Amino acid sequence: MTTMDSGIADRTISRRRLLSLTSFLGLLGASGVVVWSNLLFFKPRVTYGEPSRFRIGAPDAFPLGTRLPLGRQRVTIVRNENGLAAISNTCTHLGCVVATNEIGFACPCHGSRFDPDGTVLGGPAPRPLPWYQLSLSPSGEIEVDTSAEVAQGSYLKV
Ligand code: FES
Repeated sequence: MTTMDSGIADRTISRRRLLSLTSFLGLLGASGVVVWSNLLFFKPRVTYGEPSRFRIGAPDAFPLGTRLPLGRQRVTIVRNENGLAAISNTCTHLGCVVATNEIGFACPCHGSRFDPDGTVLGGPAPRPLPWYQLSLSPSGEIEVDTSAEVAQGSYLKV
């Protein structure tokens, strides 16, 4: 045997050793997956939506004539001579987000239109846009509660 042959012979691997090595790697990989999935199990998989009660700031932040849509919270804050109101931006047809403008609300999905108070003017929407309860928090901020609907025309006098 030449020196070159003995070098090749040293680098060869037996079938038994190859099977042992691949089995070990497979076992290691499977163990890693088990450990990873158990770690994921302990991490809560919940999505937190927007809270139903939230503060929007001091009353002074909303001057007369305000019609301010709050995109994440899906409400429009309205201020007129009667006071402050929060009107839903969720279309009562199939739940699309309506666009707020100076003449009311318009739904981009199927064309429902609402007047500035949320009353249906046209389209397939079956009901007016809900109004939500507003209150003044102890810190003097306006608090919106989207879990509590109030009658249309219920303004917070501030
Ligand atoms: S979702 Fe608004 S009109 Fe259909």
